[in-house]
Amino acid sequence: SSDLLLKQYKATRVFIHYGGGSVIRSGLLGRIKGLLDQADISYFELGGVLPNPRSGLVYKGIELCRREGADFVLAVGGGSTIDSAKAIAAGVKYEGDFWDFYIGKATIQDALPIGVVLTIAATGSEASQGAVITQERGMFKRGLSSRYYRPRFSIINPELAYTLPRYHLFAGIADIMSHIFERYLTLTKDVILTDRMSEAVLKSVMEAARIIKDDPTNYEAMATIFWSGTIAHNGLLGVGRQEDWSSHALEHELSALYDVSHGAGLAVIFPAFMEYTIDVDPLRYKRLAVKVFDVPDDGSDARTLGLRGIDNLKSFYRELGLPVTFAELGAKCDDIDKLVEKLRQNRGEVIGSFKRLT
Ligand code: NZQ
Ligand code: ZN
Repeated sequence: SSDLLLKQYKATRVFIHYGGGSVIRSGLLGRIKGLLDQADISYFELGGVLPNPRSGLVYKGIELCRREGADFVLAVGGGSTIDSAKAIAAGVKYEGDFWDFYIGKATIQDALPIGVVLTIAATGSEASQGAVITQERGMFKRGLSSRYYRPRFSIINPELAYTLPRYHLFAGIADIMSHIFERYLTLTKDVILTDRMSEAVLKSVMEAARIIKDDPTNYEAMATIFWSGTIAHNGLLGVGRQEDWSSHALEHELSALYDVSHGAGLAVIFPAFMEYTIDVDPLRYKRLAVKVFDVPDDGSDARTLGLRGIDNLKSFYRELGLPVTFAELGAKCDDIDKLVEKLRQNRGEVIGSFKRLT
């Protein structure tokens, strides 16, 4: 349990960070505080992290941690809370503006240790080096990777997700799958084991999603979803190959402008990205279609089978109640120029590697 882990990490003054209140309503925060009280570990807290977490609360958290003398950061919640906690943990140890890290003006040299109690499977932030924050000055949504961001521990208990609204649960699944697609769609050849592991995780998470849809407290299925979420983004499925990440870059502009859920944005972007890039490697898309999206290999050409696979992916997202078009997401064609300009400012002239997008 977390009290013992915190003792192992010699935490004496814990900063507890959480979101909009789900952890209060579920009783989880109360349970954690009870354990800390029992273990005689002192703590203070800051809630209010918004989905697509903002810089304002990060500044507030940094100030609070300095004033209160935190020596450990405990994030209780989803990717947004974890990412906000990571930025605070690094910001506390840096005299300048934490945003310097996100614009390449400074590199993280130190951070408070971070622990996680995860309540939604999606971002993999519980085991990743990444943290994505939106700077409110100009609404720039940016990610950063640092070894200091990797949590010391993460408690991944599927039962904590039983209170999760279906939309967030299924958006999380689209995010998990996207973390694998970003790595699977690669020009690197001959990464046999990584390919097969990726296909296994994709198939498992889809199977589990369909079980959960009808049986929301199925422990095995929820455990599979959580475990998949962690494996999808802890680096394992990128071993040996170049990764792409342009779909994430595109999505971050959507969630920065419309404040939509990251996973829902990806459900729109990825099938479109796949159709756009089918000719880069039709055989790879055929493989994905046949091995993961249940397309029978009836002897049609690779491109045709690949496209059928993409159609099946869209149907799967629809089945889960996710948007697959700009309109369904609430995005507007009129905003495309603005979105593209922001993307250029954030990422430069060219993004991606599977197909370089200008
Ligand atoms: O804020 P509360 O009240 O806790 O409610 C949250 C929030 O409204 C709710 N929720 C979470 N667990 C719950 C629950 N409600 C009831 N019961 C539970 N057990 O779910 C909503 C979404 O939470 P959020 O943390 O925003 O979701 P997610 O984990 O999808 O995080 C999204 C953020 O992470 C970034 C995304 O861009 C987005 O900003 N990403 C972070 C990455 C990383 N650090 O490595 C990589 C990803 O690709 C992604 O970009
Ligand atoms: Zn993601």
